[in-house]
Amino acid sequence: MNTQIETLLSAQQIATRVAELAAEINKDYAGKDILLVGTLKGAYIFLADLSRYLPERTQIDFLKVSSYGDSTSPETAVQFDQHPTIDLKNKHVLLVEDIVDTGHTLAFLRKYLHTKNPASLRVCALLDKPSRREANLDPIEYLGFSIPDKFVIGYGLDYAQCYRNLPYIGVLQS
Ligand code: IMP
Ligand code: MG
Repeated sequence: MNTQIETLLSAQQIATRVAELAAEINKDYAGKDILLVGTLKGAYIFLADLSRYLPERTQIDFLKVSSYGDSTSPETAVQFDQHPTIDLKNKHVLLVEDIVDTGHTLAFLRKYLHTKNPASLRVCALLDKPSRREANLDPIEYLGFSIPDKFVIGYGLDYAQCYRNLPYIGVLQS
């Protein structure tokens, strides 16, 4: 159990950035009710922290997708494990993502969420690894941090389903 983890973003850095993102969101959505849709499992802590800065009429839902690694058509290789339960029609949907890597998950989700006819659709992602991008993506409206091409853990993000509960974001040292 002597795993070495190098801190990439401290709990304090994350907290500061989450508050800044929430302030931007509150300004942009003034007078509108938001439906936050978080992607399980990775976004659970980010959504929990972000949501506590948003107005009391904010609604919360989750979805879960997984990729099954068909390299010939990566976008269609994303599949639903759990659909949102709230009707998204005419809602101001803000998709809350933990990390955008190749971008295939986000490309798939934007397309899917549009088919539910929301009043508006934007994305709030905590992390982005732009150097890994494969999909052709619309810009991410609210982004926490751009990070280098390293596999990160903590604050919701896992390696083999562990480390999600770390209060900071780190890189596993091998
Ligand atoms: P994409 O479809 O390649 O953009 O993949 C996004 C998903 O891959 C994320 O929601 C994570 O589940 C996973 N992922 C990508 N990079 C990392 C990482 O550095 N740490 C943990 N999970 C990651
Ligand atoms: Mg995710």
